[in-house]
Amino acid sequence: MKTQLIKDILVSAPDGREVTVYGWVRTKRETKNLVFIQVNDGSCFASIQVTLDRDRGITEETEAQLKRISTGASIEATGLLIPSPASGQAVEIQGLAITVLGEAPVETYPLQKKNHSLEFLRDIAHLRPRTNTFGAVARMRSQMAYAIHVFFQERGFNYVHTPIITASDCEGAGEMFQVTTLDLEQLAKAPTTKVDFSRDFFGKPANLTVSGQLEAETYATAVSRVYTFGPTFRAENSNTTRHLAEFWMIEPEVAFYDIYDNMDLAEEFIKFLIRWALEKCPQDMQFFNDRIQPGLIETLTHVLNSDFIRISYTEAMVELEKNAVKFEFKPYWGCDLQSEHERYLTETVYKKPVIVTGYPKEIKAFYMKLNEDGKTVRAMDMLVPGLGEIIGGSEREENLETLEGRITELGLNPEDYWWYLDLRRYGTVPHSGFGLGFERLLLYVTGMGNIRDVIPFPRAPKLAEF
Ligand code: 4AD
Ligand code: MG
Repeated sequence: MKTQLIKDILVSAPDGREVTVYGWVRTKRETKNLVFIQVNDGSCFASIQVTLDRDRGITEETEAQLKRISTGASIEATGLLIPSPASGQAVEIQGLAITVLGEAPVETYPLQKKNHSLEFLRDIAHLRPRTNTFGAVARMRSQMAYAIHVFFQERGFNYVHTPIITASDCEGAGEMFQVTTLDLEQLAKAPTTKVDFSRDFFGKPANLTVSGQLEAETYATAVSRVYTFGPTFRAENSNTTRHLAEFWMIEPEVAFYDIYDNMDLAEEFIKFLIRWALEKCPQDMQFFNDRIQPGLIETLTHVLNSDFIRISYTEAMVELEKNAVKFEFKPYWGCDLQSEHERYLTETVYKKPVIVTGYPKEIKAFYMKLNEDGKTVRAMDMLVPGLGEIIGGSEREENLETLEGRITELGLNPEDYWWYLDLRRYGTVPHSGFGLGFERLLLYVTGMGNIRDVIPFPRAPKLAEF
């Protein structure tokens, strides 16, 4: 590589050799003879200090460059790597020459030294990665994505790329963004009220995917273990701290797995990811622990060392109905679990992750395996403190007739699912899978409070800037 990253320089021996760093100035501080510059390149949480000493002589050229340096300026700095006399840093650079690559005028650069609110930073999402918080989030996001691939690749899963544009609605909830090349202006003026989709790009209505599950199932019933990891889209009008219109989802799908194997996999997966965060990202995690959510590391360590609770929907309902007064939405058997219910179970009752199974079929998707009681399905949702649902999954209905029945019952057309039904017609097997919302995982691991702060450029109702 042409340049050296600050994270590598910071852990190398301060043997007096000459080094050059590139980055953005966090702060510049001057005394009569000394100039201290903190340079950060985002490769790690810490900045490196470049110290210039006028007693040792600074060239006129470097003096001129120093005048142009303020917070946010980009620089190239060369000097000798020496042990640092200052506390909190092992090494520093005894500066010899500095070149400003780009100034950041104090009058207009929005990121000055003071702490900015997360709300303010959301409006400058193109500059926020230069802050401590968003630099840390960016590195965590990358590390967690890497960890996800490691987890599955080590366990014989194949990474499958499911389509972004699809003609099916996996969740059957109708919350989809339509994809079309039809001229909407023209259509608005047309005398007819019926749209002729045969003239559209795909010859029929198409949309952005809400989940890669159905297509993942086709590969799981061929190569046994698969996972998808890609963007998904939901046109639900939810303006909350846990919902995005565009989010990333990880969906493993495993042939020959039942709901219990599925729960074991989900628990092992979450623990693997937490352990990865704690072991591979100690500096960033320390920052989240100190500045974002006090006690985060202790809480996550506790989660690592405990068994997740597993209860049925019916058991959960008993617990919730006992405490009905606590809820705005009164719980009753048959209702979908509201966020307040989920959080009560995981935060107040059990105080750790909880996996709820056996939901009423009416509130779950068509593909979930029907239990013997004919009323509940083998769904599993994992709930975690501070967040509620982080994972949703199920054992899949592998019986052709039952599945066709469920599709019809829910007002969907079996013909639209002909290829999905073929998986049950030919060599059907029990199989299971789940979806983990990547941004929900990041909220959980970093302790950040708003999902819009753990994705670089959030998309939500009326929000598509950048
Ligand atoms: O529970 P969901 O809707 O399940 C599915 O889509 C299944 N097809 C998954 C599967 O079995 N393969 O979504 C799964 C997870 C949720 O638990 C949540 O973490 C996340 O995706 N999620 C969202 N994250 C951010 N914004 C939204 N609007 C989300 N909707 C779901
Ligand atoms: Mg769900």
